Amino acid sequence: MDRFDVRGGNRLSGRLTIKGSKNAALPLMCASLLTDESFVLRDIPELADIANMQRLLPELGVEVAYDRASDPESPGGVLRMKVTDLTASHARYDVVRTMRASISVLGPLLARRGYARVSLPGGCAIGERPVDIHLRGLAALGADISLDGGDIIARVPRAPGGKPGRLVGARVFLGGPFGSTVLGTANVMSAATLARGTTIIESAACEPEIVDLANLLNAMGAKITGQGSPRIIIEGVESLGAADHRVIPDRIEAGTFMCAAAITGGDITLDNCPVDALMAHMDRLQHMGVVMQYEASADPMRATCRIMFDSIAKVLQPIEVTTQPHPGFPTDLQAQLMAVLALADGNSVVTERIFTERFLHVAELSRMGAKLYRQGSTVVVSGVRHLVGAPVMASDLRASACLVLAGLAAKGTTVINRVYHLDRGYERMEERLRTLGAEIERVNERESATLAPGVA
Ligand code: EPU
Repeated sequence: MDRFDVRGGNRLSGRLTIKGSKNAALPLMCASLLTDESFVLRDIPELADIANMQRLLPELGVEVAYDRASDPESPGGVLRMKVTDLTASHARYDVVRTMRASISVLGPLLARRGYARVSLPGGCAIGERPVDIHLRGLAALGADISLDGGDIIARVPRAPGGKPGRLVGARVFLGGPFGSTVLGTANVMSAATLARGTTIIESAACEPEIVDLANLLNAMGAKITGQGSPRIIIEGVESLGAADHRVIPDRIEAGTFMCAAAITGGDITLDNCPVDALMAHMDRLQHMGVVMQYEASADPMRATCRIMFDSIAKVLQPIEVTTQPHPGFPTDLQAQLMAVLALADGNSVVTERIFTERFLHVAELSRMGAKLYRQGSTVVVSGVRHLVGAPVMASDLRASACLVLAGLAAKGTTVINRVYHLDRGYERMEERLRTLGAEIERVNERESATLAPGVA
């Protein structure tokens, strides 16, 4: 198991190209199940979650080949996929439990093959994470849904005469107690592309990853409008064709590097930066006194953005931040922003409204000297002058990113254990931070134990 050793105190500066989006790429990969023709995705980052999906899809009859990017600073490699077997429709627990996004195969399998068996994902470190709304949406399109041995069984009823049936368009409401559902919207929208008639999704997720998926599906011949708004309209078509699509850049990776500039008083320029998808995050950083410069570009999802610490203000200002569905402040950046707020000049208030238990970083940040007071889904962050390095760990991807950020600014060395969580969502994070001037090393625990017994 690897760990990161971070020696804090360096002011980061330099330039990076933002990688392709993990959370866009995963449901896009599942859309390969909707066509028999060739399916190519570009700018796919090298991440553990992508590798997991590359393991799952062949079990469902999809041939997958990945060409790594020749330039490590490019947004990513190329994935080529093709369905070769339509009979295997079981996403097993062994795979699904390693990655919840595996649920995204459900809608495409059901729509194209009329049958899907997908292990029900359990809870995870950030909360319960039910999939009831996904199932409600697919049932509204006519699917028979049941549970067997921990698996979701979804079936399209046969047509009269025993012929294969088809899903039927319907008006579907996807709102839940915490807003809409991103992967639920992806599942229902994907399934509806091949349904008979028109589907209207009300209270659809507006996240940029849903817009990217709709754009890919439309390029394959689907008829989707309204993506990016809470009402998506899908007119079903008979079949979908080939695809060659470039995934959007990762707004959470970009937002994390923005926090790295803020917390180290640095000056970082990000290319391929989806500023259009990061308005709430950039607004919060600006209120803290961070200077953002970006030029209106032809494609505001691939802009160049410079993030600088305001040397006149000298101290970061405290703020209030509440996570919300897009275009509100994203839950996937809450932990990282909290690391920055830990060093602000006063009391900040952070409220989590999407995953109300997503606070694994709080106890670990406190071990580094942060002053945090949690009550339910709100944390009051009372800024301190400095953080102090310590051994820490968190069993959640974004909480681990928060600890890396804290380590970059802390006095002394921070040891972040279990970095496989980071590898799920950040490609070579330590190398990228090193190019900006950070002192950060990946250490293989087993090797270091062999070389220096007792140290690891
Ligand atoms: N929810 C329900 N019922 C459902 C589905 C969701 O009650 O059937 C609740 C969830 O428990 C949560 C809220 O609705 O309280 C939103 O969950 P959502 O379904 O939108 O989350 P998701 O689609 O499973 C994706 C991202 C997450 C990100 C969330 C919210 C992927 C692969 N995952 O998850 O990303 O936090 O949307 O934006 O796209 C991450 O990258 O670290 C990550 C966790």
